[in-house]
Amino acid sequence: MLAQKENRERNRTVFRLKLFDYRRDGSFASRQHAWKNLGFKERGRIWRNLTRDGFLDPECSRSDAINSKGAQMKRFLKTVALLALAALSAATISPAQGQSQTAAKKIIIDTDPGTDDALAILLALNSPDIDVAGVTIVAGNVTSELGLENALKVMSLANRCDIPVAKGAAHPLFQKLNTEVFWNGKNGLGGAELPPSHCAASSQFGPDLIIGVVHRYPHEITLVPIGPLTNVALAISKDPSIVPLVKEVVLMGGSITGGNVNAASEFNIHSDPEAASIVFNAGWPITMVGLDVTERTLITNADVVRLEKVGEPEASFAAAVARFQIGTYQGTGFGGGAVHDALAVGAVVDRSFLKTQDMRVDIETDGRFTRGETVGNRGNAIDRVVPRGDRLETVGVDAVQPNVQVAVGVDASRFIELLVSRLSGK
Ligand code: BDR
Ligand code: CA
Repeated sequence: MLAQKENRERNRTVFRLKLFDYRRDGSFASRQHAWKNLGFKERGRIWRNLTRDGFLDPECSRSDAINSKGAQMKRFLKTVALLALAALSAATISPAQGQSQTAAKKIIIDTDPGTDDALAILLALNSPDIDVAGVTIVAGNVTSELGLENALKVMSLANRCDIPVAKGAAHPLFQKLNTEVFWNGKNGLGGAELPPSHCAASSQFGPDLIIGVVHRYPHEITLVPIGPLTNVALAISKDPSIVPLVKEVVLMGGSITGGNVNAASEFNIHSDPEAASIVFNAGWPITMVGLDVTERTLITNADVVRLEKVGEPEASFAAAVARFQIGTYQGTGFGGGAVHDALAVGAVVDRSFLKTQDMRVDIETDGRFTRGETVGNRGNAIDRVVPRGDRLETVGVDAVQPNVQVAVGVDASRFIELLVSRLSGK
């Protein structure tokens, strides 16, 4: 019953979003008004089209192609061929060989670089246990233009122009973009300079890249969103069929113990609460690496000195970024710089860095003081309240289904050691 209700609510949210023309340049025109004025029949027709054909937007030709019958058949045949191949190679690899070949985890990083984003990207690129299948850029810490430029510079620094980097949403779904020069410096990288990139940007729109990569590697991709969730929300709204094909979502965002932009809300969720609501209600496995753990995961001056001593461009860049991070936290009571986004990547490398608790998490999209708060239901229960004459009466307690594994504990020193040693090229 509850599941049905949640499903209906999810469909409604996705449907609302589908009434938008979201354009490649990031602008969008709302058709919600028109929807309100439509007659019953017309609404029914649009609804049937939406549920049958997917996104109606004429610019969404890629998703149409992905959803077409021919493409579905091709994907099916490809999957059968791949399965046959996998079975064949499993049969020919001896157990000893098999044991030594642990496949690297495929991830897509959705990012707004951003100082700690840059450290997160470098950690992923320097982790043999991770295979970065794509990087998508969302507006957040900086504009999507600057985010793209920064990401391309970082990829170039790491000599990884082979990985597609695609610009995505230029602003949140329903509110103004709020960039953060104060926390990331004017260039978004804490003033750390990098040479111009020799990598080129992908011509795809970020959400389309996510859709394409997930279909290419069904059940293999871990999504690692470390910025506002606009791109991910757009991707699943355009092509909901990717939801069950994603292995898991490990995101940096939220908090169940207070915010960093205000008393209640964390920056990434506060930057696009409606997008966050879509992502948290999608029905896929989510791990929330929020401020509850990232603000306990601090890089220190001693770590920076270690990075500086390496004398290699990547480590020196990471040192400069980390030094800026530490500076921004000075006087706030923190004993170092919180490397928020890097911890989300760390959790993909080694899950045992985190202690998690399953919780029902809802996103506050109203709230005068709490918009963007991730409201964690620690007991996964809500009172059952019924009308009783002129009042309401609590008659029991209903269980709610957890939708998120919330990180509530972290082995911070072990993670920082991994981060510093991998950024040192070890
Ligand atoms: C998050 O917001 C941004 O400032 C950081 O890059 C991180 O993703 C922390 O609240
Ligand atoms: Ca970020």
